Amino acid sequence: MKVVKNICCIGAGYVGGPTMAVIALKNPHIKINVVDINPERIAAWNTDDLPIYEPGLLEVVKLARGKNLFYNTDIDSAIKEADMVFMSVNTPTKTYGVGKGRAADLKYIELCARQIARVALSDKIVVEKSTLPVRTAESIKAILAESSNGVKFQVLSNPEFLAEGTAINDLLNPDRVLIGGDQTSEGLDAIESLTSIYASWVPREKIIQTKLWSSELSKLTANAFLAQRISSINSLSALCEVTGADVDEVAFAIGSDTRIGSKFLKASVGFGGSCFQKDILNLVYLCEFFGLPEVAAYWDQVIIMNDYQKRRFANNIIQTLFNTISGKKIALLGWAFKKDTNDTRESPAIYVTDHLLTDMANVWVYDPKVPAKKMYDDLDYLETRESDKNRELLKVVADPYEACKNAHAIAVITEWDEFKDYDWQKIYDNMLKPAFIFDGRNILNQNKLERIGFKFYGIGKSFNN
Ligand code: NAD
Ligand code: UGA
Repeated sequence: MKVVKNICCIGAGYVGGPTMAVIALKNPHIKINVVDINPERIAAWNTDDLPIYEPGLLEVVKLARGKNLFYNTDIDSAIKEADMVFMSVNTPTKTYGVGKGRAADLKYIELCARQIARVALSDKIVVEKSTLPVRTAESIKAILAESSNGVKFQVLSNPEFLAEGTAINDLLNPDRVLIGGDQTSEGLDAIESLTSIYASWVPREKIIQTKLWSSELSKLTANAFLAQRISSINSLSALCEVTGADVDEVAFAIGSDTRIGSKFLKASVGFGGSCFQKDILNLVYLCEFFGLPEVAAYWDQVIIMNDYQKRRFANNIIQTLFNTISGKKIALLGWAFKKDTNDTRESPAIYVTDHLLTDMANVWVYDPKVPAKKMYDDLDYLETRESDKNRELLKVVADPYEACKNAHAIAVITEWDEFKDYDWQKIYDNMLKPAFIFDGRNILNQNKLERIGFKFYGIGKSFNN
């Protein structure tokens, strides 16, 4: 087994940055270069104002940075030095050409593979850390095989299962680490090299070794199953609202069955984040590509249900406010796609806001971690309105009480803990009446708010108003 002394990670994003920080912390004998084409991102990794917000991350980075962990832009040198190269670049949904709107755009991965093939002067283990369609390793191997430097490569799949907001804990205490590789003696040897790196802190029995294709497909499948649970409970939240059942009670009752389990059954305004939608669309595309239309339609429904839930939430606000929100002030609490992150990719906040702005509401937003620029960029990206109009209708404030002052309604979009502890009496007193509140996360105390006088609407809750 080859002992790895030097690692290069291409891509210093939400996965590459934290993952390498933890590997470096637990393997002080390995030098790690995390490289990226984005110089601002790399510069930020070298300050205490990291490019991503993640609880506990700065502490881990500070323990290793400058010792055996380095963030820089010299990609060629980092590849040359390394025994093992992780590819942790983005794999977004294609926005053009064949597979547009469904297939994963693999141009960044392919560029990495070509760069490795071009500059490598010694044998290397190349690790797929990005989430990739099943059989991508085949293309990567074909590109690497064209390296003119007489260098040999082994390709492994090592998908990442961390969730944002809990990334450090997920990395320190993973449910499992998955490593797929060729079942040849060289492939098995490479699997052992990577296994020994994780074994510095992860119990061996949690390190699963598989064939390449099983590992690649398991990552897409894990995300599809998780998202499916959310769409399942969200579909039932609509039924709860019209029948008088309470979705949290239903989730608790079914989740107590150990065969079902209690996690990922929290009804919400809809799931967001950079991966669930993209990975399911990719799975749907793969099924269609391999001639399995029924399987594709089955998974597509998870996305259809999620879109329905976001739309349903926004429509409920409009209908409840007497079918007119034009010129009305609506306060949005939270913009991030979940708590404890500043990531807004595919956040339900974007779609709910777009809906409300289309009906000419004045939306005031407060989020503890997301800067205003990101919110405007998110809306401009949708191209529903002129950028000037977005700036006219959406106001971003740094004080939640200011956001809610004189508002006709409040909508909770992200489950930030601080929202639970606000002075809701004070907020109520400063709102227009009737004071409506739409809790898209079911985190607030409905009875308490109703006692104060709010007209309260939760997801999958019966309405007592
Ligand atoms: P990201 O966009 O935050 O980071 C990717 C980085 O790669 C960017 O900084 C970009 O500049 C850089 N990059 C792109 N092409 C490059 C190149 N040729 N050379 C050097 N740098 C390059 O993305 P992310 O959220 O870290 O996700 C990366 C991958 O991990 C995706 O495939 C994603 O599906 C997967 N994943 C993400 C998460 C998550 O929580 N975000 C969790 C598990 C898996
Ligand atoms: C998800 C997976 O949980 C990770 O295992 C995976 O590595 C990652 O995607 C990825 O591949 O990118 P992440 O998107 O960071 O992680 O966060 P989650 O905790 O999964 O939440 C995703 C969305 O679902 C959020 O909008 C969250 O609020 C929502 N959600 C989650 C619910 O609405 N209800 C739930 O019960 C759980």
